[in-house]
Amino acid sequence: MNLFRAPKEPWRPDLSKPLAEVQAEISQSLQCFIAREVLARWRGSARLLPAVRHALAVPGKRVRPSLIVLSAYSGSESPAIAGDSLLAIATAVEMVHTYSLIHDDLPCMDDDLMRRGIPTCHVAYGISDATWAGSALLIEAFVILAREFSASGCLPEAARVMGDAAGLEGMVGGQWLDTQLPGTGVSGDAFIEVHRRKTAALLQGCCTLGGLAGGVDEPAIVALRSFGECLGLAFQAIDDLLDVTGNERVVGKRVGKDAQAGKLTATATLGVEGARRYVDELIDLAMSALASLEGPAVPRLRDLAFHLGHRVL
Ligand code: IPE
Ligand code: IPE
Ligand code: MG
Ligand code: MG
Ligand code: MG
Repeated sequence: MNLFRAPKEPWRPDLSKPLAEVQAEISQSLQCFIAREVLARWRGSARLLPAVRHALAVPGKRVRPSLIVLSAYSGSESPAIAGDSLLAIATAVEMVHTYSLIHDDLPCMDDDLMRRGIPTCHVAYGISDATWAGSALLIEAFVILAREFSASGCLPEAARVMGDAAGLEGMVGGQWLDTQLPGTGVSGDAFIEVHRRKTAALLQGCCTLGGLAGGVDEPAIVALRSFGECLGLAFQAIDDLLDVTGNERVVGKRVGKDAQAGKLTATATLGVEGARRYVDELIDLAMSALASLEGPAVPRLRDLAFHLGHRVL
């Protein structure tokens, strides 16, 4: 990140750099934005602030913010919404993701003790504060999105996209299904429906929302939606693979937990080799979806798909 940019100069990523540098720049800018603009809002609710900071300020991979920023630059050099407004939208989707992780780790869901290498939010701050911190993050995220999209004329569309991604048709519905379906004895591709809703819907939503922020045309939105869905399905299948083959210290969360809990996963359905092939096919499909896009971020979106397809954390 350029810490020395003039105060009035709008933030923009240098997309000519390698992906790792672009992602580091997005992640650091997000970190500053969260400290400066988001956590400040929680000062009035002093008891919730530590729980929110614990979950939001310890950086994960920040995949969803990267998708927002890169998708916004998938059409042209000059997105309709740029600078700190784009960072705000990227932060909002990370807040939705963070809420989902807090709730996913609760004893009534996956009952997990470690996340991003530190104790989960409810272990550190108790079930009540963790639950409310998660709920507040979700709602505050929509407040930010409403503010940032209101001037662009596409607020109703943006609200619908995020509602579909995070709501009954998307993550909430998928997370509920995840608690209902047994790990075996269901139809062969039932796990895809769970993955599509609990994880791919939000990654798809990020690509669509980024496209809307960028002001791209309808065919580009269709391409971004397709890219996001394939990438999201691959992303959750790799998460399932890492639960079998990953290293706890590297992934920063407990491994081996899905089989223990009898979860419906890509590995339980396809085996490790089958799940790996399934991921490779999805990454190929994601790459193909980008073929018609020409903006400056498209090479970095390709790099991101490749990188996520081979991730070890
Ligand atoms: C974990 O998401 C939950 C899934 C949807 C698989 P990430 O793997 O993106 O978690 P962080 O944000 O990097 O910690
Ligand atoms: C979680 O899937 C998906 C969410 C919507 C949070 P997992 O339960 O597999 O994610 P991890 O392994 O706990 O990160
Ligand atoms: Mg879960
Ligand atoms: Mg979990
Ligand atoms: Mg998992």
